Amino acid sequence: PTPADWQRLDRWFADTLVGHDDALEQAVHDQAAAGMPAIEVAPVNGKFLHLLARIAGARRVLEIGTLGGYSTIWLARAVPEGGRVVTIEAEPANAAVARASIDRAGVGEKVDIRVGRAEHVLPTLEGEAPFDLVFIDADKESNTLYLDWAARLGRPGTVVVVDNVGRAGCVADESDESPQIDGTRRGLRMLASDPRFDATALQTLDAKGWDGVALAMVV
Ligand code: DHB
Ligand code: MG
Repeated sequence: PTPADWQRLDRWFADTLVGHDDALEQAVHDQAAAGMPAIEVAPVNGKFLHLLARIAGARRVLEIGTLGGYSTIWLARAVPEGGRVVTIEAEPANAAVARASIDRAGVGEKVDIRVGRAEHVLPTLEGEAPFDLVFIDADKESNTLYLDWAARLGRPGTVVVVDNVGRAGCVADESDESPQIDGTRRGLRMLASDPRFDATALQTLDAKGWDGVALAMVV
């Protein structure tokens, strides 16, 4: 199969199963207009996160890496009335754009955006734990730190999802020692060796290209 084949299939999946969504499309538009990179999760991947949160019955969700709020909206729509998504964003300008998009999507009262470096914000969240689902989608160099916090702020059964674990296959190329690839690889090895987790990973071919997602649970 060529890229054109799997791009066509992804579009077909997205058209058929996700469909048109004003709030999400506006969030992507405003993210681009603000100069943020187009690295939000693909529509099929956003809905995958949303369904995982609903299947888990998640009431408290933690997201590390808000960007323009695209995945935040998907997650907030998954939590019931009274539920919360705490999402951490290092860049105040990004957080402001995300805030507006999340509010416009009608889920503003479910979302707390904490502005700051996640390594500094995470230790302040102990009073809000345990989280039922943690989505890690920030600087890949820090994935092991974020996984440690996911376990500490989780409970047995907490769902942990790590974005971008494939990175066009580079993660399997041990000679590639760039910080993002190395951080991703160290995160996956931690998921394998740390007794607090059980995990797997799936390759993805979607609107964002060839990548992967790790799925773990806190045991
Ligand atoms: C990058 C980060 C992401 O979270 C993503 O989904 C795609 C790319 C990056 O930093 O290159
Ligand atoms: Mg990502």
